[in-house]
Amino acid sequence: MSISLRDLFEARSSVRKYKSDIVPPEKIARILQSVTSTVPTAGNLQAYKIVVVTDPKVKEAIYNASHKQNQILEAPVLFVFFANTLRSSEKYHTRGVELFAIQDAANACMMASLACTEEGLGTCWVGAFHDSSIREILGAGEGMRPTSILTVGFPQSTTKRTKTRRGFSDLVSFDKC
Ligand SMILES: Cc1cc2nc3c(=O)[nH]c(=O)nc-3n(C[C@H](O)[C@H](O)[C@H](O)COP(=O)(O)O)c2cc1C
Repeated sequence: MSISLRDLFEARSSVRKYKSDIVPPEKIARILQSVTSTVPTAGNLQAYKIVVVTDPKVKEAIYNASHKQNQILEAPVLFVFFANTLRSSEKYHTRGVELFAIQDAANACMMASLACTEEGLGTCWVGAFHDSSIREILGAGEGMRPTSILTVGFPQSTTKRTKTRRGFSDLVSFDKC
């Protein structure tokens, strides 16, 4: 059964507690195939990279580099998103480094999060980490900037949480800011 986009938006919530069940590799492959074949990027340069982490030792190092956030240890899979700032800079110079490559990676992360939701997986976007440690742990090359970590696994609870968001008029305006 397919799910409407609106229902998918509603179904996604940050999940910080996971079952220890392994995520079937074919699910991961489907999610990443779907993201990498459709995500919009500046100039279609695809200035991002996704590193899939399942090795417990690597996960522990990432946990230590991310303020020891428990969901990183608990989740059986991590997707680590990098902005490929060199690739973007070749065409877009400073704007490529400071903005476009980061937006490319963020688009991929958000789409991956929704694709995981569709597959019955929970995710949590983690942005609080030490860039230099993550680069070192994962052997990132020149110009590769880590922008987010998505924790991925089967959620422990499927209870729907109420979303708290600012009022519409606080977030949207018409014709002027
Ligand atoms: C850029 C960004 C950085 C985030 N960093 C963290 C983080 O380091 N740790 C964490 O637990 N959640 C993090 N989150 C998740 C947010 O806290 C969460 O999306 C927000 O509270 C709304 O809740 P919801 O995702 O359940 O709708 C981050 C989300 C975004 C978009």
